[in-house]
Amino acid sequence: MSADRDPAVAALGSPLVVAIDGPSGSGKSSVSRAVAGRLGVAYLDTGAMYRAATWWCLRRGVDLTDADSVSRAVRVMPLVMGIDPAAPGVHVDGTDVSEAIRTTEISTAVSAVATNLDVRSELRRLQRAAIDAEREPGSFSGGRGIVAEGRDITTVVAPDADARILLTASEEARLARRALDVHGEAGEAAVAATRDQVLRRDRDDSAVSQFHVAADGVVTVDSSDLDYEQTIQAVLDVIEQVAGRPQGADPAR
Ligand code: DC
Repeated sequence: MSADRDPAVAALGSPLVVAIDGPSGSGKSSVSRAVAGRLGVAYLDTGAMYRAATWWCLRRGVDLTDADSVSRAVRVMPLVMGIDPAAPGVHVDGTDVSEAIRTTEISTAVSAVATNLDVRSELRRLQRAAIDAEREPGSFSGGRGIVAEGRDITTVVAPDADARILLTASEEARLARRALDVHGEAGEAAVAATRDQVLRRDRDDSAVSQFHVAADGVVTVDSSDLDYEQTIQAVLDVIEQVAGRPQGADPAR
């Protein structure tokens, strides 16, 4: 769907900023992207920024345990984040890394970069700039706004967002979803293989962001018993309730 064609969005008037956080396997990325598409706003995957930073450091031979070298490398990273929900590509130094940043190598290494406080401060600066840009008429969304998702968007990056949502799911549901994503099945062996990646990574990431319990003013959506479509609808419902605006329907009716 084009951002230009949704009459509900055209009627919004002021920009809509939606912040969505959640742990691995909560469905956060695919749901946030679909919600952005339906609302006709931009989409920012902040996890992809930490992944791109990890790719860049490994590519340059930076030792990920050397915090100073990592933060120096990230400060000069030529990162271009795609914010079109229909095609959110990621480029670093002219290379399309959209697929390379999803490999097991990057998934295993990324927490070392994401727990570096200098890196966090630099990437948060870029994230705030990307969100603020979408409030302006000349931006990708034409000033309609953005859905930004990650681990610290509701609390640190955009605590002033119009709607703030924590998307959770039971550990069982999260492991099954990730196993299906990574291994194409959710049998016992696939779930066991996914366990370290999901739970260890969330444990490491919890040291620097709080994304298991909703902060004040943040609405929890538990997707454990919801399918993909139902989760998208639940998120759209919260946005409508919290932001108090007509979403996804023709306001003229
Ligand atoms: O959501 P993801 O799996 O693509 O995130 C990649 C890593 O980045 C993961 O270790 C969590 C971390 N992250 C973060 O610390 N803060 C964010 N806002 C987004 C992701």
